[in-house]
Amino acid sequence: MGSLPLPDFLSKRLFSSTPQKKSLNINNINQNVVHAQYAVRGELAIKSEQYRAQLAKGEGKDLPFDSVISANIGNPQQLDQKPLTFFRQVASLLENPELLEHEQILLDKLGYKSDVVERARRLLKDVKSVGAYSQSQGAPGIRQSVADFIERRDGYSSDPANIYLCAGASSGVNALMNVICSTPQTGVLVPIPQYPLYSATLRLMNAHMVPYYLKEDANWATDVGGMRDALKEAQGKGIDVRAVVVINPGNPTGGSLKPEDINAVLELAAEEKLAVLADEVYQMNVFEGEFQSFKKGLRDLQKSEKNKDGKFDEMELASMHSISKGMVGECGHRGGYYEMVGFDPEVVAQIYKFVSIMLCAPVIGQCLVDCMVNPPRPNDPSYPLYKSEYDGIFNGLRQRADALYEAFSQMDGVSCQSPQGSMYLFPTITLPEKAVAAAKEEGKKPDEFYCLRLLDATGVCIVPGSGFGQKEGTLHFRTTFLAPGTEWVGRITKFHQEFMDQYR
Ligand SMILES: Cc1ncc(COP(=O)(O)O)c(C=O)c1O
Repeated sequence: MGSLPLPDFLSKRLFSSTPQKKSLNINNINQNVVHAQYAVRGELAIKSEQYRAQLAKGEGKDLPFDSVISANIGNPQQLDQKPLTFFRQVASLLENPELLEHEQILLDKLGYKSDVVERARRLLKDVKSVGAYSQSQGAPGIRQSVADFIERRDGYSSDPANIYLCAGASSGVNALMNVICSTPQTGVLVPIPQYPLYSATLRLMNAHMVPYYLKEDANWATDVGGMRDALKEAQGKGIDVRAVVVINPGNPTGGSLKPEDINAVLELAAEEKLAVLADEVYQMNVFEGEFQSFKKGLRDLQKSEKNKDGKFDEMELASMHSISKGMVGECGHRGGYYEMVGFDPEVVAQIYKFVSIMLCAPVIGQCLVDCMVNPPRPNDPSYPLYKSEYDGIFNGLRQRADALYEAFSQMDGVSCQSPQGSMYLFPTITLPEKAVAAAKEEGKKPDEFYCLRLLDATGVCIVPGSGFGQKEGTLHFRTTFLAPGTEWVGRITKFHQEFMDQYR
């Protein structure tokens, strides 16, 4: 009887000439982790941090730049975006409640307003202490604030029992994917290009990412025809497609879905019995038109003529939001929420169990969710400052997005869709053949090669399009427009011209 070949890791362990010193090595740990990719914090980001450390130690005299610009990641406060005062004043009282015993000093001497004090007192009543675990699903009063926010935003009621507070949207996606992915044949439709949280999480789950391509020439619109084709093709291969992810507004594309696109996705999902995962973390970063949520789209359809046979009644929708983005930018505090509607109660119970195993989301992050969904309103004492800070950040983002867009429009071999939302631009680059050949020689993808050269020459760190997925034969890069000033945009244009001249 022929013996089965041993798995690679086991044969290395048993027959390796050098005795294994450790129990764990790269071949015997979880291969799903080994193979997961996350370009946003990959080789380029690591190299840029090395440059930054070199400059900080005063050892960067030979470098052709004097600062590193991290345009690779949507990390607003690392790029000098100031925290909103209301949020941090509330947080400071939550962290040090003794300050509340000196209310008059807070108000008279330290610039705190009475609504800050009231908010801190209300939140402390809800959570008791930010050093205590909350309920697994999140503090009840904060979930009520989220439900009220959703109701104001969409004009449809929301039930706090359906709200789960989480450690950033990433942890919500992780919980949902853990429960959705049951076998290696499970598939989830994911837009391409996409934020690699989705591809990486599905890899970790040993499940299939089923890609559907966004339409670049239509400002990265969602093409439901293409989504249907991708679904059918996957089903033809025996993949059990259970859900569809939509990122709106998009990362890395910035593309925003119009209400009719949202309806079309929901119609397909209803016909094909797919759960919809709507990643709406950029809902405050919208430059063109108005944000519309998937939840509103679903409730509109449920009320409409199109639902006369009840096909939308059973739809499962999970919508995510976060304190990391927008004008809040509190990503280091790890806060967010997801609302689940239409899910089977038995499935919800398992999601609840999953989040319980993680105990709870950081409570200070939960409290900042409260500030985000229930910010100062006109006539509140903190409102004038809040409004001017909020508008200042929004307008700054807009101006930098426009400056980058203008610069890209003038660069040889670069074409870019106009900025619509989120924090990113994702231009196409057409590189000379000699550059493609030089990349191959170094064992790099052409877009990686370009981004590495840019980093080495300018200190500007961006992410190659291959990290997000791109149509075969196309090349892109993603840059955030968060970094202050526009001087670094000039660094990119100068580099680009020299690069093109070198390889033409
Ligand atoms: C589309 C998208 N979803 C989710 C996240 C994760 O955000 P959070 O910090 O809330 O986990 C990001 C972060 O960049 C993102 O771009």
